[in-house]
Amino acid sequence: MNQSLKRLNEEYTMLHYPYYQKDNDSFIDAQINLTDFCISRLTPMKGKQVLEIGCGNGVQAKYILRKYSPASMTAIDLNSTNIEIANTETKKQGIKNISFQIDDAQKLSTIESKSMDFILSIESAFHFPDKSSFLNEIYRVLKPGGSFLIADILTIPRKNTTLREFWKKKMHFHHWSRHKYENELFKARLNINSLSDITKKVIHGFKNYKYWLKTMKKTNFIDDFFIKIFLSIHVELNMYLLRSRRQYCVIVGDKPFKS
Ligand SMILES: C[S@@+](CC[C@H](N)C(=O)[O-])C[C@H]1O[C@@H](n2cnc3c(N)ncnc32)[C@H](O)[C@@H]1O
Repeated sequence: MNQSLKRLNEEYTMLHYPYYQKDNDSFIDAQINLTDFCISRLTPMKGKQVLEIGCGNGVQAKYILRKYSPASMTAIDLNSTNIEIANTETKKQGIKNISFQIDDAQKLSTIESKSMDFILSIESAFHFPDKSSFLNEIYRVLKPGGSFLIADILTIPRKNTTLREFWKKKMHFHHWSRHKYENELFKARLNINSLSDITKKVIHGFKNYKYWLKTMKKTNFIDDFFIKIFLSIHVELNMYLLRSRRQYCVIVGDKPFKS
């Protein structure tokens, strides 16, 4: 996905879905809209310690550092290729106060307890098989009173068929329902302050994809053809799932001062 999107946009892009704001937004604008929407749900992070969990290639973490001026950004991802891209690009761009590390969201072994004011996890949590441990880790590394934001694709509960089970296993998908999130956040001693369902905005964002594919720079007919087919199927499938059985939600909460 990293390389397909790089091909389409001629630069590394964030790795999440687009969020609709206006018709002539580019793909990159629409992805930035999603990040901006998420950050708008939080109190100002200027001068604070921020952790991004599941940071992908680091484009989003660098954008947040530049636009919202936290004192420092730490960003972790399980995928070593993503962290390598993030580190190489950051070095090339001469960006300071940001650290990319390989780590598992369910362990956060590189992050000290009570060290973070804000934790963000945008479109990553549905990959985590043990999301309860992920929530316990959020509790551990947040300072008392610190805030978390989880943007995740939730499932609308329905009976699983064998085919659906096979597909979820193959894709490493571990979606939770809203009810499950509410219960598990409670068990992890984390408060929920807001839950926004932005599914319609994301589906609307995806509708511009056909136009973005047309603007893709042509380099090699065969490669272009396959990338376009791959991205078109990816988009149609995601729109279908979001319309029928998934919800894109942004959950914001905090760790109480007293527990
Ligand atoms: C869809 S990408 C989102 C990247 C980034 N948050 C963004 O919005 O551009 C999901 C990321 O989660 C990472 N991921 C999956 N499982 C993980 C885990 N257990 N711990 C940390 N990162 C994980 C993947 O490697 C991938 O980079």
